[in-house]
Order: sequence, then structure tokens, then C-alpha cells
Amino acid sequence: MNIYLSIIYLVATVTFITGLKLLGHPDTAKKGNQIAAGGMGLAILGTILLHDLEVPGFVYGLIGGAILLGGIIGYVIAIKVKMTKMPELVSLFNGFGGASAALIGLVEFGQNSGEISQTVTILAAIAIGSLTFSGSMIAWAKLNGTLWKDIRLPKYNLINNVVLLAIIAYATYMVFTGTGSLVFAVILLLSGLLYGVLLVIPIGGADMPVVISLLNSLTGIAAAITGILYDNMVMLAGGILVGSAGLILTFAMCEAMNRSLINVMFGAFGSTEVGGDEHHAQTTGTVKKATVSDVAILMNYAQRVIFVPGYGLAVAQAQHAIHELEQLLENKGVEVKYAIHPVAGRMPGHMNVLLAETNVEYDKLAEMEDVNPEFQNTDVVLVVGANDVVNPAARNDTSSPIYGMPILDVDMAKQIIVNKRSMNPGYAGIDNELFYNQKTSMLFGDAKTTIQALISELKGM
Ligand code: TAP
Repeated sequence: MNIYLSIIYLVATVTFITGLKLLGHPDTAKKGNQIAAGGMGLAILGTILLHDLEVPGFVYGLIGGAILLGGIIGYVIAIKVKMTKMPELVSLFNGFGGASAALIGLVEFGQNSGEISQTVTILAAIAIGSLTFSGSMIAWAKLNGTLWKDIRLPKYNLINNVVLLAIIAYATYMVFTGTGSLVFAVILLLSGLLYGVLLVIPIGGADMPVVISLLNSLTGIAAAITGILYDNMVMLAGGILVGSAGLILTFAMCEAMNRSLINVMFGAFGSTEVGGDEHHAQTTGTVKKATVSDVAILMNYAQRVIFVPGYGLAVAQAQHAIHELEQLLENKGVEVKYAIHPVAGRMPGHMNVLLAETNVEYDKLAEMEDVNPEFQNTDVVLVVGANDVVNPAARNDTSSPIYGMPILDVDMAKQIIVNKRSMNPGYAGIDNELFYNQKTSMLFGDAKTTIQALISELKGM
């Protein structure tokens, strides 16, 4: 390989690693993204200009045209996408990554020398790429509501495992017979597509972020496999980074929900049978209601207030309103913080991204472990559209499906105000004992309208 190209690949790999590191903090995330994207641009340019293959001139025209078209589409989508639609976009991108790996596998199958290691790599690219593509498309359709039902065939786990084993057996047969027939490869591709669909259709809509992250890591693995195929170091390194980062994120999400990956993939929590916003848990006991003016008075005389944002804040698009409330209270001498639970909302970093959009200062966002000891010295906690992540059943009730999930200990605060529209449960579909706590008052209403009303009330004080 051209020595300059090797150096470019090395530089690109370093930018990917640096970019990933910088993505770990909101302050540096944008820069990290730009650095890694720059490295990727450099690697693409280097590959086009410095490769040592003989290619006719029109191929450069095709590549340029594809980059231009893809670049324009990607730019427009990225500019237009709403923050709440991000998981859908990620699943589309994943899907296309998987599709390219599968297509590369198909093309290379035609040129296969028959060497076992090469055949294994090609077949793995076809199978993993195709299942990632179809699985991601189903995830996308579920997230945007096109496919709103979780389809569970009778004995679906058994069927899925049989199909998976059949694919592995079929691919092994192809390796050992050394078949060069494209029909065999196409059958493998179709089986991969079928398995991707079967794997994702039964999974509860709200578990999709975990599934997407897993599919993301599979895309990385597929890319790494194609890197091996082309003996291309930067593809291999990029694929490994995506694969491992995706896996780490998948397990981090499962841990924050206190669930195993097996439970997410094969369990029912978060599905329409148990969870889902549309399901109503049994409500017990009586709750105390507060009015906007009660809460405004409480906050006006408080010294320390903590906001706990959740999924409902994102749905109501109340991030700007809550930031305004924070500034208003700070001007009145009240100390305000946001307590961020790792799986508040429906995607990793959902709350951080939402609040960053309104320029909330990063040092006001407190992680769960740091903020939990502070609740007992807090005068008022305002929970906005959060439910499961503040449910004390996770600590106290061994029979609860969320038992063991780390939560924000808001019940330790002196006064708790919960803003939501009704007594309906959150994602886990279970009742929340916090609402019946003597220190809790419910402030019913849409998050944005309610916070705006609070702001006007406070301004008049
Ligand atoms: P949830 O437990 O889902 O509760 C959200 C609450 O928001 C609901 O109880 C709902 O009550 C309220 N709400 C909805 N629209 C509202 C509006 N317009 N105004 C005010 N309130 C509104 O949310 P959470 O506490 O953020 O917990 C997240 C859940 O998602 C966890 O169970 C977590 O495991 C799961 N999950 C998260 C992720 C990631 S990575 N974040 C991934 C998979 C699963 P009303 O209908 O009464 O208003």
C-alpha cells in the first residue's frame, strides 16, 4: 500500500479515537464529532486519490456523484431532524451501514478465491449486514409509529433460535462445500433479512433504544469484517470502535434499567403486555393536588430547588420553559440544579441533549450518583414528566419489575412536586408510590403550559 495512504489511515484512526473520547462530555462533544468526521473525510479522500488499482475515469465520476448526493441528503436530514426523532435517524443510518456491508459481501462473493478464511468473512458480512439492515428498518418503523404493534408469533423465541441456527448451519455448509453459486449467497442474504425482522418485531417499542444500540454495534462488526475483506486498516479500526462503543452503550443502558440484555431481547417489559405509555397501572391511596400558585410560593421561598426532567418534558418540549424558570429562580437567589437519570427519556443522553439545546450551563446538570446525597438538603424537588426514574419501588418493593433499578432519591427532599398530566404510569406501566407520599403534591397539566404558568406567577411575586 502507498506509504502516504498508510499514514493517512493512521491519522484517521487516531481522530476516531480522539473523537470518541471527546464525545464523552457535552462541552467537547461537538468538537469530537468534527474531528472524527474530518478524519473520515481524509480517509475517504486518501483512498480515492492514493489507491493502487487501475480504474476507468468514469468511476471517479460515479464516486463523486454518490458522495455529493449522499452528502446533500445527509446534511438536509441532519439539519431538519428534531431531537426527539434522533433514535429514528440513528436506526436509518445503522440500516444503511448494514446494507452496504451485505452488498460488499455479495460483490466479493463473486470474486472469492475459495480460501476458507475469505469465504467466512464474506458470508459473515452478508449475514450480519442483512440482519442489521432489516432489523434497523423495523426499529425505525416502530419508532416513527408506522409499525405500532409488537408482533409476537407463538413460540417466537424458539422460532428465532431455530432460524438463527439454520443460518449458521447453512453458512457452514457453504464454507465447506466452497460453493461459488450466487444463488446460495442470495439465499443467505434473504435469510439474514428474515432473521432481522423476526428478531426486532416482538420487542416492545420503548425498548428500541437498546435494540438500536445493539444493531449499531452489529453495523460496526459488519464494517470491521469488510475491513478484513479489503485488508483496509481504517475500516477495520472504525468498525471495531463502532462495534465496541455500541456494545458498551447497550450494556450501560441495560444496567441503568437493571435488566439483562436477554430480558430486553426476549422479555416482555416495555412491551404492550406490561409497559408502554398507553397502559394504566392500578392506582391506590389518595394524592394531594397543588395549584400553580401553591408551587410558585413554595419555590419563591426555597433556598435549594432541584428539577428532575423526564420523558414528559421532552414530549411537551418544555426545555426552554424550564430553563427560563431556572433563571428566574436564580435571579431571586434560589439555588437551582437539574438531576439527570441515565435513562430518563427514551434515548441515551436524552435529557442532556434537550437541556443543552437551551444552553443550560453544564455544571447545573448533576448526575444521579452525585445528586442523590443532596436531596435531603433540598427544599423543593420539581419532577417534570418523569416517573419510573423516581419510583421508590425500585428500592423498596422486591416484587416490582423495576426493583433494583438505580433511581433518583427525590423522596428524601423536604417537598416534592410532581408535574404530569394524569395518574397514568410511565414506560414500565406501574404505579408510583412517590405520588402518595405525604411530602408529595401533584401539579397536573402539560409540562410546558404548567411551567409557563409557574413563570408568570413567580414574575408577579
Ligand atoms: P416515564 O417513566 O416514561 O414517565 C414519563 C411521564 O411523563 C409519564 O408518566 C407521563 O404521565 C408524563 N408525560 C407525558 N407527556 C407529558 C406532558 N406533555 N407533560 C407532562 N408530563 C407528561 O419517563 P422517565 O421517568 O423519563 O423514565 C424513562 C423510562 O424509559 C424508564 O423506565 C427507562 O427504563 C425507559 N427507557 C429509557 C431509555 C433511555 S436510554 N433513556 C431506553 C429504554 C427505555 P402522564 O401521561 O400522566 O402525563
